[in-house]
Amino acid sequence: MTTASAPGKVYLFGEHAVVYGEPAVPSAISRRARVTAERRADSRLRVHAEDLSLDGFTVEYSGETDSTPDVDVSPGLVRAAMGYVDAAVSQAREATDAPEAGFDITIESEIPLGAGLGSSAAVVVAGIEAATRELGVELGTEEIADRAYRAEHEVQEGQASRADTFCSATGGAVRVEGEDCRAIEAPDLPFVIGFDGGAGDTGELVAGVRELRERYPFAASTVETIGDLVRQGERALAEGDLEELGTLMDFNHGLLSSLGVSSRSLDRMVWAARDAGAHGAKLTGAGGGGCIVALDPTDGTESALGFTPGCEEGFRAELDDEGVRVE
Ligand code: PMV
Repeated sequence: MTTASAPGKVYLFGEHAVVYGEPAVPSAISRRARVTAERRADSRLRVHAEDLSLDGFTVEYSGETDSTPDVDVSPGLVRAAMGYVDAAVSQAREATDAPEAGFDITIESEIPLGAGLGSSAAVVVAGIEAATRELGVELGTEEIADRAYRAEHEVQEGQASRADTFCSATGGAVRVEGEDCRAIEAPDLPFVIGFDGGAGDTGELVAGVRELRERYPFAASTVETIGDLVRQGERALAEGDLEELGTLMDFNHGLLSSLGVSSRSLDRMVWAARDAGAHGAKLTGAGGGGCIVALDPTDGTESALGFTPGCEEGFRAELDDEGVRVE
């Protein structure tokens, strides 16, 4: 039996624009998904998932990946998670030349599903590592990142950048531009995360931005402007200038809003953080619901989120320098 874990992430800058070749800067956070793989005698795959939500309720799911899970909370999300596990195991089978390998898989995650914190990437990355190690093969981080990207790409029907999977595999802050992915230096970042209890549909949101881009030339320019903002953000990150980073995060949120991917609850949490004195705040990930990330070294944002309508939970998260690891 082998357990591996991988971190979730926030986007400091650049989600959505990264789909069109602009750079993005995600950063790994200290919330992890843990996947345990145990080799079976046959070639079947059984998946058991628990703690799929932030506040720790347990989703008991145990069954073949193509059956309907018997749960009364977010079954669509649980099914989606199963799709990612399936794709991760396929990659592990291919990488180890063991097409018939069967596994019992257990997932435990501290990362809310589909909420912009890279839960699916963390599950895929940890799943590939756990299953390949269980078969006695050690892949390099780059290969895990690449295979995890291919798995996400397949599940999301071609709509995935390398950002989430690369960041989860390597940990730390990273820069992604097309195929070019690398680690970058980052100071200690005082992240505060607000979660509205919901999730956005990444595929639909990415498609919505695509339509806007096709319809309005200024929407295409907005995507390019996000790219310019990311390049400016990289300089602020290198200089450790938290105030400038916050200003640029505010700007990035405004541009994402204009592309139609924010929501009332995300906007409320962003404003609560700003009113509480955060350096800046923005939605993270695909949007439509889920999480915001603020930069605030004080307790202001975390306590303000506790009273913000539509916010289910506010919590602090550290930048996590460690990527995928065997537990
Ligand atoms: O919500 P998440 O964590 O799946 O992030 C999606 C980020 C997008 O840029 C919208 C899509 C992508 O694959 O980069």
